[in-house]
Amino acid sequence: MKIAVIGTGYVGLVSGTCFAELGHHVTCIDTDKNKIEALKKGRIPIYEPDLEALVIQHAKNKRLSFTTQLKEGLQGAEIVFIAVGTPTNPKDGSADLSWIFQAARDIAPLIQKGAVVVTKSTVPVGTASRIRAVIYKTRKKKDVYVASNPEFLREGCAVLDFLQPDRVIIGVSSAKAEQKLRQLYLPITGRGIPLICTNTQTSELTKYAANGFLATKIAFINEMADICEKAKADVEVLAQGMGLDPRIGRTYLKPGPGFGGSCFPKDTRALQYIAENYGAKNHLIPAVIESNEERKFTMAKKIIAALGGNIKGKTIGILGLTFKANTDDMRESASLVIVPYLLKAGAVLKLFDPEGMDQAKSILKTGKDAQWCEDMDEALQKVDAAVILTEWQMFSTIDWRKMKKKMKQPIVVDMRNLFDRAMMAKQGITYHSVGREVATALLAPSK
Ligand code: UGA
Repeated sequence: MKIAVIGTGYVGLVSGTCFAELGHHVTCIDTDKNKIEALKKGRIPIYEPDLEALVIQHAKNKRLSFTTQLKEGLQGAEIVFIAVGTPTNPKDGSADLSWIFQAARDIAPLIQKGAVVVTKSTVPVGTASRIRAVIYKTRKKKDVYVASNPEFLREGCAVLDFLQPDRVIIGVSSAKAEQKLRQLYLPITGRGIPLICTNTQTSELTKYAANGFLATKIAFINEMADICEKAKADVEVLAQGMGLDPRIGRTYLKPGPGFGGSCFPKDTRALQYIAENYGAKNHLIPAVIESNEERKFTMAKKIIAALGGNIKGKTIGILGLTFKANTDDMRESASLVIVPYLLKAGAVLKLFDPEGMDQAKSILKTGKDAQWCEDMDEALQKVDAAVILTEWQMFSTIDWRKMKKKMKQPIVVDMRNLFDRAMMAKQGITYHSVGREVATALLAPSK
């Protein structure tokens, strides 16, 4: 099929490229000239495993092209995806839909008869109907369709998530649109992956429900980790004990410094707004948001406590700044709270992230007490403690026996529970992790 994708941000670029991988002919459209020029040369603006290779491959076989020209990009497109940003509106926490409606206005006179306009961006309930109204304001005839098709991609494994999804959800209000979208996803559903077809409202809300629920799981396990610390219990064992119950599930029960990224924080805020807007009682999501906000500060205090309660003049090596591993994305990362908090408390910080340094430098407001390091070794030179904020693979293989010789003190605060506590103790490290303050002696296998 011939399709067009408006917006070459995270969602648009991954989706467009993967549709080309599925055999479709895709044109990605963006107003940003520099971005489009770079993409034409096979250079992608984000760090995402496997994406660049696919962009180059499908640009070469002419299934994927890039343009800033809307008219040219929409020519012959049977399906037009809108994949522009829906950031949080700072005034009320709602999703700001101005780019969505701008895109709808721009494409309205140019799309071909019978085309299906689909939202890929995460949009509040009722957006499809509003887009339809915007389009019909310009077009005299009601000869196009509007549908919803949310994405469930995780940064860092977005290509895999797209090509091997758990499910595809489409929200439609006409049989024609349903048929087109079923045809589009045939290479995926033909492999037995379920496609759920529903109305646009349910489809739109399912996306928020999924992100809201995953965020709730994380906030829950983070709070359980706090209880475990006080009760001398082990949250990792607890998560396993809970999660092996298939009604609960094993995933998204990893405690950490608080969830971040461009989705969970934004989508929980938007879900709260949606509920309030509909006058629907909503206790859980506001609590999840509050719990997660507080979490980042609690974790900063945990680091200070691990250093004896006063970090004035102490040097701390920070490993990982991005909101999770395998991305260079800094949006709403816990580090954006923890780093300034530690600096304000008087610490000197040595900062390092394998992929996020450029983004971190542009977002994090640091002064003379923060040093940007070239590599992990530099970040741990003569430090009073090492703090792991992001679960990058390279951190989980650190040889602490060697590394501690470079450090002033062998203190490690691990916000991602990457290490075995008994092993760290054996290597002479004073190890603080999350929700696992049970005495190391108890971890030895029973004889
Ligand atoms: C999330 C969802 O997982 C995707 O399904 C969804 O498509 C996407 O949002 C979106 O709406 O576009 P993403 O933001 O890339 O994907 O990241 P996740 O891997 O879900 O992690 C989000 C945050 O939760 C990270 O800060 C991560 O460290 C944290 N997390 C995740 C935990 O603290 N514990 C866990 O067990 C899992």
